[in-house]
Amino acid sequence: MSDPIVVKDDGGVRIIRLNRPEKKNALTQPMYAAITRAMHEAQANDAIRCLMITGTPGVFSAGADIGEFLESAQAGGLRPHTLDFLKSLVHNQKPLVAAVGGLAVGIGTTMLFHCDHVVAATEATFTTPFLKLALIPEAASSLLAPMRMGYARAFSMLVMGRPLTAAQAREAGLVNEVVGAAEVEVVAMKAAQDIAALPAGAVAVARRLMRSQIDAVTRQIDAEVAQFTARLTSDEARAAFTAFLARRK
Ligand code: COA
Repeated sequence: MSDPIVVKDDGGVRIIRLNRPEKKNALTQPMYAAITRAMHEAQANDAIRCLMITGTPGVFSAGADIGEFLESAQAGGLRPHTLDFLKSLVHNQKPLVAAVGGLAVGIGTTMLFHCDHVVAATEATFTTPFLKLALIPEAASSLLAPMRMGYARAFSMLVMGRPLTAAQAREAGLVNEVVGAAEVEVVAMKAAQDIAALPAGAVAVARRLMRSQIDAVTRQIDAEVAQFTARLTSDEARAAFTAFLARRK
Protein backbone atom coordinates (compact mmCIF):
# COMPACT_ATOMS: atom_id res chain seq x y z
CA MET A 1 0.00 0.00 0.00
CA SER A 2 1.36 3.45 -0.84
CA ASP A 3 2.22 6.00 1.80
CA PRO A 4 -0.90 8.05 2.77
CA ILE A 5 1.25 11.20 3.06
CA VAL A 6 3.95 11.77 0.48
CA VAL A 7 6.46 14.56 1.08
CA LYS A 8 8.72 15.79 -1.69
CA ASP A 9 10.96 18.83 -1.91
CA ASP A 10 11.12 20.53 -5.28
CA GLY A 11 13.45 23.52 -5.38
CA GLY A 12 12.41 25.74 -2.49
CA VAL A 13 8.95 24.16 -2.22
CA ARG A 14 7.99 21.29 0.11
CA ILE A 15 5.04 19.42 -1.41
CA ILE A 16 2.84 17.53 1.05
CA ARG A 17 0.45 15.19 -0.72
CA LEU A 18 -2.61 13.61 0.91
CA ASN A 19 -2.54 10.21 -0.71
CA ARG A 20 -5.28 7.91 0.53
CA PRO A 21 -7.57 8.05 -2.52
CA GLU A 22 -9.40 4.81 -1.69
CA LYS A 23 -10.82 6.66 1.35
CA LYS A 24 -11.08 10.05 -0.36
CA ASN A 25 -7.98 11.18 1.54
CA ALA A 26 -9.82 11.05 4.88
CA LEU A 27 -7.26 12.01 7.51
CA THR A 28 -6.07 9.51 10.13
CA GLN A 29 -3.79 9.98 13.13
CA PRO A 30 -0.65 8.77 11.27
CA MET A 31 -1.52 11.18 8.44
CA TYR A 32 -1.93 14.16 10.80
CA ALA A 33 1.37 13.20 12.46
CA ALA A 34 3.19 12.97 9.11
CA ILE A 35 1.88 16.37 7.92
CA THR A 36 2.80 17.98 11.25
CA ARG A 37 6.30 16.49 11.05
CA ALA A 38 6.78 17.69 7.47
CA MET A 39 5.67 21.20 8.42
CA HIS A 40 7.72 21.22 11.62
CA GLU A 41 10.94 20.13 9.88
CA ALA A 42 10.42 22.81 7.25
CA GLN A 43 10.46 25.61 9.85
CA ALA A 44 14.19 25.26 10.56
CA ASN A 45 15.19 24.39 7.00
CA ASP A 46 16.23 27.56 5.16
CA ALA A 47 16.17 25.72 1.85
CA ILE A 48 12.39 25.36 2.15
CA ARG A 49 10.76 28.71 1.40
CA CYS A 50 7.20 27.63 0.78
CA LEU A 51 4.93 24.66 1.53
CA MET A 52 2.30 23.26 -0.80
CA ILE A 53 -0.44 20.89 0.31
CA THR A 54 -2.33 18.91 -2.28
CA GLY A 55 -4.40 15.76 -2.73
CA THR A 56 -5.10 13.28 -5.49
CA PRO A 57 -7.05 13.77 -8.73
CA GLY A 58 -10.55 15.01 -7.92
CA VAL A 59 -10.05 14.84 -4.16
CA PHE A 60 -8.38 17.15 -1.68
CA SER A 61 -9.73 15.52 1.50
CA ALA A 62 -13.00 14.09 2.83
CA GLY A 63 -11.98 15.43 6.23
CA ALA A 64 -11.27 13.56 9.40
CA ASP A 65 -11.62 9.77 9.28
CA ILE A 66 -15.05 9.06 10.78
CA GLY A 67 -14.00 5.61 11.97
CA GLU A 68 -11.33 7.32 14.05
CA PHE A 69 -13.91 9.82 15.31
CA LEU A 70 -15.84 6.87 16.71
CA GLU A 71 -12.68 5.49 18.33
CA SER A 72 -11.89 8.96 19.72
CA ALA A 73 -15.41 9.19 21.14
CA GLN A 74 -14.90 5.86 22.86
CA ALA A 75 -11.47 7.02 24.13
CA GLY A 76 -13.02 10.22 25.52
CA GLY A 77 -11.81 13.00 23.20
CA LEU A 78 -9.83 14.21 20.21
CA ARG A 79 -6.60 12.31 19.62
CA PRO A 80 -3.25 14.09 20.16
CA HIS A 81 -2.09 14.14 16.54
CA THR A 82 -5.21 16.09 15.55
CA LEU A 83 -4.46 18.71 18.19
CA ASP A 84 -0.80 18.89 17.16
CA PHE A 85 -1.84 19.36 13.54
CA LEU A 86 -4.21 22.21 14.43
CA LYS A 87 -1.48 23.97 16.40
CA SER A 88 1.07 23.41 13.64
CA LEU A 89 -1.25 25.15 11.18
CA VAL A 90 -1.37 28.20 13.44
CA HIS A 91 2.32 28.31 14.29
CA ASN A 92 3.63 27.46 10.82
CA GLN A 93 5.88 30.31 9.64
CA LYS A 94 6.40 29.23 6.04
CA PRO A 95 3.93 30.37 3.39
CA LEU A 96 1.41 27.62 2.69
CA VAL A 97 -0.20 27.10 -0.72
CA ALA A 98 -3.06 24.62 -1.27
CA ALA A 99 -4.01 22.86 -4.50
CA VAL A 100 -7.61 21.68 -4.19
CA GLY A 101 -8.33 19.33 -7.06
CA GLY A 102 -11.89 18.48 -6.03
CA LEU A 103 -13.68 17.40 -2.87
CA ALA A 104 -12.81 19.35 0.29
CA VAL A 105 -14.82 18.34 3.37
CA GLY A 106 -14.56 19.21 7.06
CA ILE A 107 -10.98 19.89 8.01
CA GLY A 108 -10.22 19.55 4.28
CA THR A 109 -11.98 22.91 4.01
CA THR A 110 -11.22 24.53 7.36
CA MET A 111 -7.45 24.03 7.03
CA LEU A 112 -7.65 26.32 3.98
CA PHE A 113 -8.32 29.30 6.26
CA HIS A 114 -4.70 28.86 7.40
CA CYS A 115 -3.29 28.82 3.87
CA ASP A 116 -1.79 31.85 2.16
CA HIS A 117 -2.85 31.01 -1.39
CA VAL A 118 -5.48 28.51 -2.51
CA VAL A 119 -5.90 27.21 -6.06
CA ALA A 120 -9.05 25.17 -6.76
CA ALA A 121 -10.39 23.14 -9.64
CA THR A 122 -13.57 24.43 -11.28
CA GLU A 123 -15.42 21.31 -10.00
CA ALA A 124 -14.09 21.58 -6.44
CA THR A 125 -16.63 21.77 -3.63
CA PHE A 126 -16.12 22.99 -0.08
CA THR A 127 -18.36 21.47 2.59
CA THR A 128 -18.30 21.45 6.37
CA PRO A 129 -21.01 19.01 7.54
CA PHE A 130 -20.07 19.34 11.22
CA LEU A 131 -23.58 19.83 12.53
CA LYS A 132 -24.93 16.88 10.55
CA LEU A 133 -22.46 14.78 12.54
CA ALA A 134 -23.59 16.50 15.77
CA LEU A 135 -20.18 18.22 15.91
CA ILE A 136 -19.12 21.86 15.83
CA PRO A 137 -16.69 23.78 13.58
CA GLU A 138 -12.97 23.39 14.29
CA ALA A 139 -9.52 24.66 13.26
CA ALA A 140 -10.53 28.17 14.39
CA SER A 141 -13.03 28.28 11.52
CA SER A 142 -15.66 29.60 13.94
CA LEU A 143 -13.51 32.76 14.13
CA LEU A 144 -11.82 32.81 10.72
CA ALA A 145 -14.82 32.00 8.50
CA PRO A 146 -17.03 34.89 9.71
CA MET A 147 -13.99 37.22 9.48
CA ARG A 148 -13.15 36.08 5.97
CA MET A 149 -16.54 35.68 4.33
CA GLY A 150 -18.98 37.48 6.63
CA TYR A 151 -21.36 35.92 9.14
CA ALA A 152 -24.13 35.02 6.68
CA ARG A 153 -21.96 32.94 4.37
CA ALA A 154 -20.05 31.45 7.30
CA PHE A 155 -23.27 30.34 9.01
CA SER A 156 -24.60 28.80 5.81
CA MET A 157 -21.39 26.84 5.36
CA LEU A 158 -20.32 26.00 8.91
CA VAL A 159 -23.69 25.47 10.59
CA MET A 160 -26.11 24.60 7.78
CA GLY A 161 -23.49 22.54 5.98
CA ARG A 162 -24.29 24.07 2.60
CA PRO A 163 -21.46 23.52 0.12
CA LEU A 164 -19.61 26.28 -1.68
CA THR A 165 -18.67 25.81 -5.31
CA ALA A 166 -15.18 26.83 -6.34
CA ALA A 167 -16.55 30.06 -7.80
CA GLN A 168 -18.45 30.83 -4.58
CA ALA A 169 -15.37 30.01 -2.50
CA ARG A 170 -13.35 32.46 -4.57
CA GLU A 171 -15.97 35.12 -4.15
CA ALA A 172 -16.07 34.41 -0.41
CA GLY A 173 -12.31 34.98 -0.15
CA LEU A 174 -11.35 31.38 0.61
CA VAL A 175 -9.88 30.64 -2.81
CA ASN A 176 -7.53 32.76 -4.89
CA GLU A 177 -7.65 31.07 -8.29
CA VAL A 178 -10.07 28.69 -10.01
CA VAL A 179 -8.62 26.68 -12.90
CA GLY A 180 -9.28 23.50 -14.85
CA ALA A 181 -8.71 20.30 -12.85
CA ALA A 182 -5.70 19.31 -14.95
CA GLU A 183 -3.97 22.61 -14.17
CA VAL A 184 -4.53 22.86 -10.42
CA GLU A 185 -1.16 21.58 -9.27
CA VAL A 186 0.78 23.39 -12.00
CA VAL A 187 -0.84 26.72 -11.12
CA ALA A 188 -0.41 26.11 -7.37
CA MET A 189 3.22 25.17 -7.88
CA LYS A 190 3.80 28.33 -9.91
CA ALA A 191 2.34 30.38 -7.02
CA ALA A 192 4.54 28.49 -4.54
CA GLN A 193 7.61 29.12 -6.68
CA ASP A 194 6.72 32.80 -7.03
CA ILE A 195 6.53 33.04 -3.22
CA ALA A 196 9.73 31.02 -2.82
CA ALA A 197 11.54 33.45 -5.12
CA LEU A 198 10.75 36.45 -2.88
CA PRO A 199 13.20 37.53 -0.14
CA ALA A 200 12.43 34.98 2.59
CA GLY A 201 13.06 37.27 5.57
CA ALA A 202 10.69 39.95 4.28
CA VAL A 203 8.05 37.33 3.42
CA ALA A 204 8.25 35.95 6.96
CA VAL A 205 7.84 39.40 8.52
CA ALA A 206 4.96 40.39 6.21
CA ARG A 207 3.20 37.12 6.92
CA ARG A 208 3.66 37.53 10.68
CA LEU A 209 2.24 41.06 10.56
CA MET A 210 -0.73 39.90 8.48
CA ARG A 211 -1.41 37.16 11.05
CA SER A 212 -1.31 39.38 14.09
CA GLN A 213 -4.39 37.65 15.52
CA ILE A 214 -2.46 34.47 16.25
CA ASP A 215 -3.25 34.60 19.99
CA ALA A 216 -6.98 34.93 19.32
CA VAL A 217 -6.79 32.09 16.80
CA THR A 218 -5.03 29.86 19.33
CA ARG A 219 -7.61 30.69 22.02
CA GLN A 220 -10.42 29.91 19.57
CA ILE A 221 -8.91 26.51 18.78
CA ASP A 222 -8.69 25.73 22.49
CA ALA A 223 -12.32 26.79 23.01
CA GLU A 224 -13.47 24.77 20.00
CA VAL A 225 -11.53 21.69 21.13
CA ALA A 226 -13.24 21.76 24.52
CA GLN A 227 -16.68 21.93 22.90
CA PHE A 228 -15.75 19.52 20.11
CA THR A 229 -14.68 16.94 22.68
CA ALA A 230 -17.98 17.26 24.50
CA ARG A 231 -19.92 16.89 21.23
CA LEU A 232 -17.71 14.03 19.97
CA THR A 233 -18.53 11.93 22.99
CA SER A 234 -22.29 12.67 22.82
CA ASP A 235 -24.77 9.93 21.97
CA GLU A 236 -26.01 11.86 18.92
CA ALA A 237 -22.50 12.11 17.46
CA ARG A 238 -21.79 8.42 18.03
CA ALA A 239 -25.07 7.60 16.29
CA ALA A 240 -24.12 9.83 13.32
CA PHE A 241 -20.66 8.21 12.98
CA THR A 242 -22.14 4.73 13.22
CA ALA A 243 -24.76 5.59 10.60
CA PHE A 244 -22.07 6.83 8.19
CA LEU A 245 -19.93 3.75 8.67
CA ALA A 246 -22.92 1.42 8.23
CA ARG A 247 -24.50 3.24 5.28
CA ARG A 248 -25.31 1.35 2.12
CA LYS A 249 -24.32 2.87 -1.21
N1 COA B 1 -13.96 8.95 7.04
C1 COA B 1 -13.82 7.65 6.80
N2 COA B 1 -14.03 7.09 5.59
C2 COA B 1 -14.41 7.91 4.61
C3 COA B 1 -14.57 9.29 4.79
C4 COA B 1 -14.33 9.82 6.08
N3 COA B 1 -14.42 11.12 6.33
N4 COA B 1 -14.95 9.84 3.62
C5 COA B 1 -15.02 8.84 2.73
N5 COA B 1 -14.69 7.67 3.32
C6 COA B 1 -14.62 6.35 2.72
C7 COA B 1 -16.01 5.77 2.45
O1 COA B 1 -16.53 5.15 3.61
C8 COA B 1 -15.69 4.76 1.36
O2 COA B 1 -15.10 3.64 1.94
P1 COA B 1 -15.47 2.16 1.41
O3 COA B 1 -15.15 2.18 -0.05
O4 COA B 1 -14.60 1.26 2.22
O5 COA B 1 -16.94 2.02 1.68
C9 COA B 1 -14.59 5.48 0.56
O6 COA B 1 -14.03 6.45 1.42
C10 COA B 1 -15.11 6.19 -0.68
O7 COA B 1 -16.13 7.10 -0.26
P2 COA B 1 -17.59 7.14 -0.94
O8 COA B 1 -18.54 7.62 0.09
O9 COA B 1 -17.87 5.84 -1.60
O10 COA B 1 -17.35 8.23 -2.06
P3 COA B 1 -18.43 9.23 -2.65
O11 COA B 1 -17.75 9.90 -3.79
O12 COA B 1 -19.73 8.54 -2.92
O13 COA B 1 -18.71 10.30 -1.49
C11 COA B 1 -18.09 11.85 0.24
C12 COA B 1 -17.65 11.10 -1.03
C13 COA B 1 -16.91 12.61 0.76
C14 COA B 1 -19.23 12.81 -0.13
C15 COA B 1 -18.60 10.84 1.28
O14 COA B 1 -17.64 9.79 1.39
C16 COA B 1 -18.76 11.45 2.64
O15 COA B 1 -19.76 12.10 2.90
N6 COA B 1 -17.75 11.27 3.53
C17 COA B 1 -17.81 11.78 4.87
C18 COA B 1 -17.34 13.23 4.91
C19 COA B 1 -17.39 13.78 6.31
O16 COA B 1 -18.44 13.86 6.90
N7 COA B 1 -16.20 14.10 6.86
C20 COA B 1 -16.04 14.55 8.22
C21 COA B 1 -16.35 15.98 8.32
S1 COA B 1 -16.22 16.60 9.98
